[in-house]
Amino acid sequence: MALLDIDGLSVAFRTRRGELQALRNVSLSVEKGEIIGIIGESGCGKSTLINSIIGLLPANVSAVSGSIRFEDENIVGMTEAGLRRLRGERITTIFQDPMTALNPVLSIGTQMTAIQYRRPESLAVKRRRAIDFLERVRMPDAARRLDQYPHQFSGGMRQRICIAMALLTEPDLLIADEPTTALDATLEVQVIRLLRELQRDIGCSVMFVSHHLGAVADLCERVAIMYAGEVVEQGTVRDIFRDPRHPYTRKLLECDPGRLTEMQDTLPTIPGEVPDLVHIPEGCIFRSRCPDEFARCGERPSPETVGPGHRAACHKARELGTP
Ligand SMILES: Nc1ncnc2c1ncn2[C@@H]1O[C@H](COP(=O)(O)OP(=O)(O)O)[C@@H](O)[C@H]1O
Ligand SMILES: [Mg+2]
Repeated sequence: MALLDIDGLSVAFRTRRGELQALRNVSLSVEKGEIIGIIGESGCGKSTLINSIIGLLPANVSAVSGSIRFEDENIVGMTEAGLRRLRGERITTIFQDPMTALNPVLSIGTQMTAIQYRRPESLAVKRRRAIDFLERVRMPDAARRLDQYPHQFSGGMRQRICIAMALLTEPDLLIADEPTTALDATLEVQVIRLLRELQRDIGCSVMFVSHHLGAVADLCERVAIMYAGEVVEQGTVRDIFRDPRHPYTRKLLECDPGRLTEMQDTLPTIPGEVPDLVHIPEGCIFRSRCPDEFARCGERPSPETVGPGHRAACHKARELGTP
């Protein structure tokens, strides 16, 4: 059984222009112990997806349908108490800006022991565990630095502290929302190596959200490609990078000549505009930017299975394969 099983998830927000359909019919699962990458341009719904999983959707959400099963519970419709039990303990998060997760007026030691409040252990044991996790993220002189404050660390070190904090409770699922976007390339490589190593030790699943193709190829086993609120393709890293079947995925890779080897900061630019999510056009969502458009694209394609676990929402998914 998958650890997380998202089925037909749709989320809409109330806006002054009308209802904005941020996610439409998203189905995606995360197996125990796997690292899955979520790729998509800004505004494609990555954060809305994450916020749905951790039960922290903004106040103007107007409709949520579908289900998000975490083991045998449905997160959609769960009580706040239920969500709090999962969040920060079984499902933890790291974000682009480490300062959003760290309290500037408390030492990191205080913060790292406070998040262990559910464990019936002495403060000394909790401090020792905090030091152990700081050492695991390669913090030099961890025991001494435990009593320092967030501003006394560099950006890269702060992100390592966040990783240590997110893994300290040994979660089942770590969600990382663009955790390396603010770091330079060398630091990014280091953070990705650390994530992989710690994930192996702890055995948790990781959902790694990024617009950095190289980083995703390097870290993940499986990938989901999102476009304008939909998952348009999903499969193994090999499926996605070697045999992409959705024209959007193909475009992303075409614009990225380095493919798996070169590290690239942002997604390539594809001509045309993302559709207005308040007025969703009929038919395929990628139609207006698609080089392969044909008559049938006026009908909305449903995800076609083109191989084991490899699905693409395109009428041409089968023909577009590499011969
Ligand atoms: N609270 C909100 N109210 C209205 N629209 C929102 C809200 N949050 C996100 N959106 C819209 O939903 C879409 C998806 O946003 P988001 O999930 O933040 O994308 P991403 O994280 O991929 O950049 C975008 O069109 C964004 O403008
Ligand atoms: Mg986002």
